[in-house]
Amino acid sequence: MLVFVPPHPLIKHWVSVLRNEQTPCPIFRNAMAELGRLLIYEASRDWLPTVTGEIQSPLGVASVEFVDPREPISVVPILRAGLALVEHASSILPATRTYHLGIARNEETLQPTVYLNKLPDKFPEGSRVFLVDPMLATGGTIVAAVNLLKDHGVDNKQIKVISAVAAPPALQKLSEKFPGLHVYTGIIDPIVNEKGFIIPGLGDAGDRSFG
Ligand code: PRP
Repeated sequence: MLVFVPPHPLIKHWVSVLRNEQTPCPIFRNAMAELGRLLIYEASRDWLPTVTGEIQSPLGVASVEFVDPREPISVVPILRAGLALVEHASSILPATRTYHLGIARNEETLQPTVYLNKLPDKFPEGSRVFLVDPMLATGGTIVAAVNLLKDHGVDNKQIKVISAVAAPPALQKLSEKFPGLHVYTGIIDPIVNEKGFIIPGLGDAGDRSFG
């Protein structure tokens, strides 16, 4: 498994805004959306297939290269907090399908429960899937989500996980269970406390995004 923390000043900037406990809810949500846009941009590099052709501009014929519309691109946000990170995905990715997954972590046991599954019965052949969740803490949620994608016909190598903050327990589980997976994250933090929160982290991303 590969983990990427893109060394981009704007990514560092939006992570800093998210970390600040003084950041109010609407600004937090906007920062999350901007971070998501940048991480998806980085994760798309060398991954989305392109085709070449010619196009008529107002002043002549130009050679062009564009994202191949025949190759399916999907976005899978994990509710609730994933909705904020994925908000600008459709403005940067051409022709995506969005499939929602609702997964809640039990506050006592930290075990995930799937309460909504809008995945297609089988993803189209060759799909590329952005799986989006801001927090990878104990890893229970993201492991459950990747397993669901596999049940619906997606291979590890077809998935890019997009997260704001990742912690070692989640990254270790992902790397043990899903070789070939790629993770793009704004930052890696060192600790998950006994309540399952990443330290120093951002707090509760779902509550801070949606109140
Ligand atoms: C949070 C977070 C992740 C999950 C990470 O979601 O957004 O989905 O916990 O924890 P894990 O790696 O230990 O499984 P939560 O269950 O609080 O739901 P929410 O997004 O609706 O707030």
